[in-house]
Parts: sequence; structure tokens; C-alpha cells
Amino acid sequence: MEQKSTLENMELIKFNNVFKNKKVLITGNTGFKGSWLTIWLSQLGADVYGLSKDIPTKPSLYKEAGIESKITHFEKNILDKDEFEKIVTEIKPNFIFHLAAQAIVSEAYKNPVDTIATNVIGTVNLLDILRKSDFDCSVVLITSDKCYHNVEWAWGYKETDRLGGKDVYSSSKAAAEILINSYFESFFKSQNNKIKIATARAGNVIGGGDWAANRIVPDCVKAWAQNKTVEIRSPMATRPWQHVLEPLSGYLLLAEKLYNNNQLAGESINFGPLSSISVTVENLIKDLSKNWNFTEENKAYKITDNIKFNEAGLLKLNCDKALMYLKWLPTLNYEQTVQFTGGWYSHFYKNIDNIYDFTISQILKYEQTAFEKKQKWIKQL
Ligand SMILES: NC(=O)c1ccc[n+]([C@@H]2O[C@H](COP(=O)([O-])OP(=O)(O)OC[C@H]3O[C@@H](n4cnc5c(N)ncnc54)[C@H](O)[C@@H]3O)[C@@H](O)[C@H]2O)c1
Repeated sequence: MEQKSTLENMELIKFNNVFKNKKVLITGNTGFKGSWLTIWLSQLGADVYGLSKDIPTKPSLYKEAGIESKITHFEKNILDKDEFEKIVTEIKPNFIFHLAAQAIVSEAYKNPVDTIATNVIGTVNLLDILRKSDFDCSVVLITSDKCYHNVEWAWGYKETDRLGGKDVYSSSKAAAEILINSYFESFFKSQNNKIKIATARAGNVIGGGDWAANRIVPDCVKAWAQNKTVEIRSPMATRPWQHVLEPLSGYLLLAEKLYNNNQLAGESINFGPLSSISVTVENLIKDLSKNWNFTEENKAYKITDNIKFNEAGLLKLNCDKALMYLKWLPTLNYEQTVQFTGGWYSHFYKNIDNIYDFTISQILKYEQTAFEKKQKWIKQL
């Protein structure tokens, strides 16, 4: 059973209450991160609007948690600029979190042009709509750690490092970054400073409620839920694993700072785990499988060494800028990250009914841990 949060009895201020009663538009709200962000923002008292072209997976956190009934949702494609514009200008949101994307690396190998269209032109459509708008709005545009030209070195990438991407997903995120910066320099910096934009670059996230194809944790839980052994393709690859709530706390904090002053407008910020906890794919799977009560390790996974596409082997982020400008630090250690993730899926596969409440209980537990760790975005009244 999930522990009941002591925060329920304590008056706490989160993100300086900036989202309370504010209109927040999330593009990509039906996806993995978008669903968690919707639930968290609703908890923070925001009036949430969502725009997505579809529900990308089955099952999905969006459906299983019944999120649709709690927000105003638009089923639209960000490539349909006229429809997108109608919605944005009608809502006049105080905040936008732009997450809509073709977010799967392997899918970009199958459909490169669609990936570029969504990730690059879709993002430009939003910028162009905002360029002509007349309301105040703080906008966090989510790209990826993969936007960096990856030379597989041992230290973390800084925001000023070269952008690039050998695969199409990565280069689409790098291209989006370049265009966002160009829109900032050309329009938002001088002509329309009611719009404050910044980009957020986070690494691979894990956590309950992700069922995307070809992502390691969803691949494992889907197999384990059917008592199958999972096959892994690059066991020694390390990723800056972090729980989904970690970058989300960074996005929310960045949005709060944008709202309150202009200092961070036009900036890009990395959000990643402490570099000391970069863990290999194999170790992550081994640790996650412990939540599943496997008696023998080799029942949980099997290494096939069958890499079909070029995916970066070593990728770390330097998060000094997030610390310096936002006082942002990760909250969970590696063990807690695994517990949150494994705990969510085991709860889901045993007790699907109250998954919205369970997800909220994890958010409260995360806030409690952040408060105990004296994170700056949460304080007592
Ligand atoms: N999940 C990760 O590990 C990770 C890591 C780094 C960056 N990111 C980035 O974070 C963001 C969210 O990722 P996620 O894992 O939640 O993705 P996801 O695949 O779970 O969800 C994608 C969302 O985008 C929407 N979408 C896709 N194409 C669209 C279009 N043309 N018009 C409107 N909506 C569209 C989908 O309907 C869905 O709501 C993405 O920008 C992704 O690139 C994710």
C-alpha cells in the first residue's frame, strides 16, 4: 500500500502558487509526460486545456486515469495551423507547455518526414501563432537531451554545446531548438515580449503510465505482465534515467520564473539526474524486475544484442545552469526512482480502478520528498 502523505495536513506553497486558477495549455497532453503534467497541474489548481492529435498508446495513463473528464481537451493536429491558432487565441492561456511530438527514436527511422514535420514545423506553427498574439503567456518548449551533437564523451553536455543529431529524431529536436532561438531573437525579444519562451532539454524519463513502443521500461512491464522474458538490445548503454516528475518539476519551475520576470526568456535549460547515477540498461532492468518477484534473474530478461538503428550509447547532461538560475536539483535518488516506477506498474496490474488517485499519491510523495530535501520550489506557508 502506498504510504499516506503527511503533506495533506501541512500548508505548503508549491511553485509560489503561480498556477492556481491560471489557464494552462498542454500540447501532447495525452502522452506519457503530458498526462502526468496534467494531473500535477490540476492538483496545483490550474485550469488545464489539452491539445493532442490522438492517444498514442493502449493502454494509456490518459485513458486509464480518466483525465479527459477533468480538463478541456481538443483532438487536433499541431500541423493544422488554422485550427491550432483558433484554439490558442480563444483560450489565451497564461502558460503553454509544448510537449506534442513524434517522440520515438525508432519511429523516426520509419517515418522521418512525419517526424520532422511534427517536431519542427509543429513547433514553428506554435511560435508563429504566438508571434502574432496579443496576450501575456509564458511558454516552455520541450525538446530533448538528444538535441546535442553526441560525441559519446564521458562528461555532461552544457546548454552551449553544439547541437546536432545523427538520427532524425535527434536532429528534429536540434532543428526545433535552432528555430525557437531564431523566433526569440527575431520576434519575442523585441517585437512581442508579452510572450516569454524557454526550452527544456531532459533525458530519458521513466515512471508509471508509459506504454510507448521501443522504450525499455514499457517493453519490460508489457512482457512481465504476461509472464514473458524481455529481450534487450543494448545492455551496456547508459542513459540519464530520471523519474518523469523530475523534469516536470523543472518545467514548472522554469514556467514560474518566466512568468515572474524576463530573465530566462530565450534560454535553454537541461534537466537531468546527478551524473553519478547514470546506470546501464541492464542494471535498470535488473532492479526493476525485483518489483516483479522473479525468482531467477534470467526469467526477467535476455540479452539479444540486436541493435537495428543508430542510438547514442553514452549521453549525459550537465545541469549546472538549472541549479544556478532555478535552484533546481533532482529530488529522487536512483533507488527511489526505481521504487516509484516499479510500484506504479505493480499497482496498475493488480488494481487498475483507482489509478488516478494512486498517481496523485505518488505526486504527493514526490512533493513530500522534495520538501524534506529542501527543494526551493516547495515551502511551508
Ligand atoms: N519520454 C521521454 O523519455 C522523453 C525524453 C526526452 C524528451 N522527450 C520529449 O518530451 C515530450 C513528451 O514526450 P512523451 O514521452 O510524453 O511522448 P508521447 O509519445 O507519450 O506523447 C506524444 C504526445 O504528442 C501528441 N502528438 C504527436 N504528434 C502530434 C501532432 N502532430 N499534433 C498534435 N499532437 C501530437 C500525441 O498525441 C501525444 O499526446 C516530447 O516532446 C518528447 O520528444 C521525451
